[in-house]
Amino acid sequence: MEKYKRSLLPTMVPICLISLIFTFCFTPTIAKEKESLGSNLQTYIVHIERPEGGVSTDSVELNNWYNSFLPASTASSGQKQRMVHSYRNVITGFAAKLTAEEVKIMGNKQGFISAHPEKIFPLHTTHSTQFLGLHKSLGLWKHSSYGKGVIIGVLDTGITPGHPSFSDKGMPPPPAKWKGKCEFNVTACNNKLIGARNFFPSYETGKIEPPFDLVGHGTHTASTAAGNFVEQANVFGQANGTAVGVAPWAHLAIYQVCSDFRCSESSILAAMDAAVEDGVDVLSLSLGGGSSPFYADGIAVGAFGAIQNGVFVSCSAGNTGPFNASLSNEAPWILTVGASTIDRSIIATARLGNGADLEGESLFQPKDFPPTLLPLVYAGANGKESSAFCEPASLNGTDVQGKIVLCERGGLVSRIGKGQTVKDAGGAAMILMNNDINGYSTLADPHVLPATHVSYAAGLRIKDYINSTSIPTATILFNGTVIGKPSAPEVTSFSSRGPSMASPGILKPDIIGPGVSILAAWPVSVENNTNTKSTFNIISGTSMSCPHLSGVAALLKSSHPDWSPAAIKSAMMTTTDIVNLEGKPIIDERLLPADIFAIGAGHVNPSRANDPGLVFDIQPDDYIPYLCGLNYTDRELAILVQRKVKCSEISSIKEAQLNYPSFSLTLGSGAQTYTRTVTNVGQPNSLYKSLIFVPQGVEVEITPSALQFNEANQKASFAVTFRRTSYGGNRQDMPFAQGYIKWSSDQHSVRIPLVVIFE
Ligand SMILES: *[C@@H]1O[C@H](CO)[C@@H](O)[C@H](O)[C@H]1NC(C)=O
Ligand SMILES: *[C@@H]1O[C@H](CO)[C@@H](O)[C@H](O)[C@H]1NC(C)=O
Ligand SMILES: *[C@@H]1O[C@H](CO)[C@@H](O)[C@H](O)[C@H]1NC(C)=O
Ligand SMILES: *[C@@H]1O[C@H](CO)[C@@H](O)[C@H](O)[C@H]1NC(C)=O
Ligand SMILES: *[C@@H]1O[C@H](CO)[C@@H](O)[C@H](O)[C@H]1NC(C)=O
Ligand SMILES: *[C@@H]1O[C@H](CO)[C@@H](O)[C@H](O)[C@H]1NC(C)=O
Ligand SMILES: *[C@@H]1O[C@H](CO)[C@@H](O)[C@H](O)[C@H]1NC(C)=O
Ligand SMILES: *[C@@H]1O[C@H](CO)[C@@H](O)[C@H](O)[C@H]1NC(C)=O
Repeated sequence: MEKYKRSLLPTMVPICLISLIFTFCFTPTIAKEKESLGSNLQTYIVHIERPEGGVSTDSVELNNWYNSFLPASTASSGQKQRMVHSYRNVITGFAAKLTAEEVKIMGNKQGFISAHPEKIFPLHTTHSTQFLGLHKSLGLWKHSSYGKGVIIGVLDTGITPGHPSFSDKGMPPPPAKWKGKCEFNVTACNNKLIGARNFFPSYETGKIEPPFDLVGHGTHTASTAAGNFVEQANVFGQANGTAVGVAPWAHLAIYQVCSDFRCSESSILAAMDAAVEDGVDVLSLSLGGGSSPFYADGIAVGAFGAIQNGVFVSCSAGNTGPFNASLSNEAPWILTVGASTIDRSIIATARLGNGADLEGESLFQPKDFPPTLLPLVYAGANGKESSAFCEPASLNGTDVQGKIVLCERGGLVSRIGKGQTVKDAGGAAMILMNNDINGYSTLADPHVLPATHVSYAAGLRIKDYINSTSIPTATILFNGTVIGKPSAPEVTSFSSRGPSMASPGILKPDIIGPGVSILAAWPVSVENNTNTKSTFNIISGTSMSCPHLSGVAALLKSSHPDWSPAAIKSAMMTTTDIVNLEGKPIIDERLLPADIFAIGAGHVNPSRANDPGLVFDIQPDDYIPYLCGLNYTDRELAILVQRKVKCSEISSIKEAQLNYPSFSLTLGSGAQTYTRTVTNVGQPNSLYKSLIFVPQGVEVEITPSALQFNEANQKASFAVTFRRTSYGGNRQDMPFAQGYIKWSSDQHSVRIPLVVIFE
């Protein structure tokens, strides 16, 4: 199958900081640019066999072993300049500046596995914790002591020490196992911010600067995962309330791996390597590239090393939705998190001259914008696409002075940048309309002028209105913050969708969580000309949903210290919500029921995840038969598992046989049977009965249909057989069918989603 074409040099995919305020995905110019050591040098990630016996993790001995792979010509002093990172935990190998020629020669050395030029990955509140059912002195926050004793490692753009979200008020010192460092030269670290390191040398100076966050992304994600309580947090007066992370008493260890919006693979690996050694419990990565085979994807490789050390890894699913097969971070040992809305809107209404009111959103809500009707123009009236998108300087041929300008979503400019274009051209306000693809998904952005972001349907009505009259007029009314939207959570348009390309037999994304218009800490004030000094911002992305789930993982780790990463993940996935606040199926950007490739197992429900009843556990070595089943070679496998494994000597399994808390399979005419093993983490004595919500066109049979447990941590297995009905075989219009299996006891309900793709 073409999909499985393997190459040690996958085409360079951009890796995005997964936040929507920054829609930049950097084409991987790799380390070609500005190399001081010579124009042909690139940073390569080199995988080496872990030497048998002798050389362990003793750093001197390991470094000597690694150095022996560097070109002889670089001996002694030269080696130091070439070696970028030497790894010892999550991968066996190093990152070094090398020429293609040198790599070729290195390839002949005994112990060499593979090398590839590193990839550059892009980066992809207040109320969201309440929306997740977390309340002070109650329930899960109380049971888990707000995540006390757990360390969350955040790989991102750095941090803003001294921000009130990173105050250590009420926090105990870090646990004794903590071995990390604080690279700030001031007393910036405390019992909240226990570590801060930078693994990304500055592009300008080549030096490692202290990990101050110059972008904002890292400050935002870290405070979302584990920010302390800050009262009266708001932006432009909106979304006012208590800002707090999901695990307010968890400790934060910051690893800067990005400079601006570029995150380097070698730095990510170095950070994961350090985090494992430092004693981190949960890793949060709001960044990632496109799909690659797992052995060729630095994040997947590093994450495998992390879970081998008991560290939970949560990653953003990507912001390239709603197109299918658009995911990042697909490995089954990673929690892949999609983005959905919360029930808060920050409403701005476009009122047209004909009296129509079209509701939209904007974070910036000026008090002094007059409600009088102003002339309304469509930016694309000149027929140019760049003008329709309000790209910079595209409006200088159009008279927009003092007018309200209708711009379209898309093109080569950010949503906020479009407002800047309108403002620069003298426009009074902007109505930003969605394109078809983004449908009804709107965002509350910190616009630079009075604005509102409306749906595609509303945009079409505005266009019709403009065409219908010789003097179109409009105004924008600012309605402020409204809580309680009954259709929340909704999957937002940008949230990347499955199926997984790297392993279609594993359903991805795993789960969804809050990622739209999220308030969290920011290095500076985004307000202008106001007397408040709010250092919070509201931004959107799967970058924002990932740290919510990292925080939930920390809470679960705190209340269940003995759970493995896979058990924590299972607990989250089997206890999700699949309906919204009004009890209807979760919808997507089209206002249609979101499919399983959009929501995975569903929307996280932290309190239920704390008491799942049963978990589907997986030990790190259980992934080996699965990886053999993906037809990876022994060499490729060694990159991931860091030891010699021969697939020919173990029995490989099909993807769907991995003990995963979901099913994804391609079904032909024959029946397929898979087994699952659950562990009882609920009441010792409990009886579970199975229920099947059968996908259309498929027959599903579970044996046994009931499971009786008599003790804690007892395991039980069941088999699930899938068979196509004649109906399923004949549906050309239905590429896949979805359903779920539910195990119910008096106390618990354990749901796993299933999707069947018809062959
Ligand atoms: C701390 O670091 C800053 C730059 O980040 C530098 O300007 C300053 O001199 C340093 N202070 C000390 C005491 O080292
Ligand atoms: C935020 O809420 C607090 C408490 O309700 C209130 O005192 C304060 O004035 C509010 N701030 C804004 C900007 O609305
Ligand atoms: C993915 O999208 C393509 C093109 O829109 C469609 O033909 C295909 O059925 C989709 N696959 C799934 C699994 O949704
Ligand atoms: C707008 O102005 C810039 C700079 O003056 C110019 O380069 C550009 O061609 C102009 N664009 C249009 C659409 O007139
Ligand atoms: C911020 O203030 C400066 C100076 O008062 C002004 O020039 C600029 O346009 C303002 N920006 C925004 C976004 O309001
Ligand atoms: C508006 O009118 C123009 C010119 O008559 C036409 O090209 C355009 O398609 C119309 N737009 C809409 C939305 O009806
Ligand atoms: C927004 O405010 C305007 C003016 O106060 C009001 O007429 C309108 O109904 C409000 N819309 C919403 C959705 O609250
Ligand atoms: C692995 O190879 C076998 C034999 O060629 C094939 O049947 C199977 O479909 C392959 N598995 C995957 C996941 O590509």
